Amino acid sequence: MKATVLVSGGAGFIGSHVTVELANAGYNVLVADNMSNCDMTNYEGVCRILGYKPEFVQMDFCDPAACRSLFETHKIDAVIHFAAYKAVGESCSEPLMYYRNNLLSFINILEQSKLQGGCNVLFSSSATVYGETDKLPVTEQSPRQEATSPYGNTKQMCEDILRDSVKAYPGIKGIALRYFNPIGAHPSALIGELPRGVPNNLVPFITQTAIGKRECLSVFGNDYPTPDGTCLRDYIDIVDLAKAHVCAVSRMIDEKMKQSYEIFNIGTGRPVSVLELINSFEKVNNLKLNWKFAPRRSGDVVAIWADPTLAEKELGWKAERSVDDTLKAAWEWEKHIAGK
Ligand code: WQD
Repeated sequence: MKATVLVSGGAGFIGSHVTVELANAGYNVLVADNMSNCDMTNYEGVCRILGYKPEFVQMDFCDPAACRSLFETHKIDAVIHFAAYKAVGESCSEPLMYYRNNLLSFINILEQSKLQGGCNVLFSSSATVYGETDKLPVTEQSPRQEATSPYGNTKQMCEDILRDSVKAYPGIKGIALRYFNPIGAHPSALIGELPRGVPNNLVPFITQTAIGKRECLSVFGNDYPTPDGTCLRDYIDIVDLAKAHVCAVSRMIDEKMKQSYEIFNIGTGRPVSVLELINSFEKVNNLKLNWKFAPRRSGDVVAIWADPTLAEKELGWKAERSVDDTLKAAWEWEKHIAGK
């Protein structure tokens, strides 16, 4: 009997790529999403890639009755929780919306996991929990800094809620994956990033500038203490990231965990600057990008990248795609959604 994995927020950018890789690995995937932050483009793309429609339930995990009904009508062997708001800036202007949505949705899922006698729960965390640190690369033992946004705080709080639930409720096992900077798109160009409105993140802003949807890319700051003056990040290909989730789910379902709550950095271990990313995008896609230097963006950390050795050792996972490959796929996706 195939194990069933519930992917909350499964119609989103990361959730849709994880759905594809889980299905490719032989899992039965249940996609649930309230569609508040995306449309059906990615789910439809998943169906085209797979050649069939994974079960889809439109629901809000903040609704305890809907959450209970989902768990009572399905045998769920593992949950991957993506359903959350994720705009750093918006979280500063709407903290209550972020705390309610991001915490309550996860608490409801854990409540149901507890009521059904336990479940494997994988939480979508973020390197943002490390904040600004000069001890690089960061390992899973690197201290979490005080969050610089309510969004980042919800990531730290959900990690702690999962940790404490694992301790208190028998049968609940938990893994938190701390992503660095997810970028790119599926090589089929049928699923990818679909930010609503003006993109906050670098790569969708780059591809939208290249396609003509945005006039000019602003590079936020060129006077940082880095080799070329721009910020350094660990950009992780979205398909590599999705495969890390398959490794983590299998570790839980196949009972290979060493502790009941585990944390893994999911990054490449390779710091890349904003200018290096722009140059790579122009080179692999043979185009010239319209960009200019602009003042620093408040809240940006100078540099952060992962020590990914624990995930390699324990999950048997390592990033495989180059930044060039990833940026080529990102451009193909942008052209696909522009109908080109
Ligand atoms: C990367 C670099 C910017 C846009 C955030 C969240 C993190 C995760 C990933 C959700 C920075 C520069 C950006 C632009 C620019 N999100 N930049 N011009 O801020 O590292 O991480 O997204 O899980 O939790 O914190 O990613 O892509 O916004 O920025 O120069 O138009 O690109 O200053 O140096 P960030 P980002």
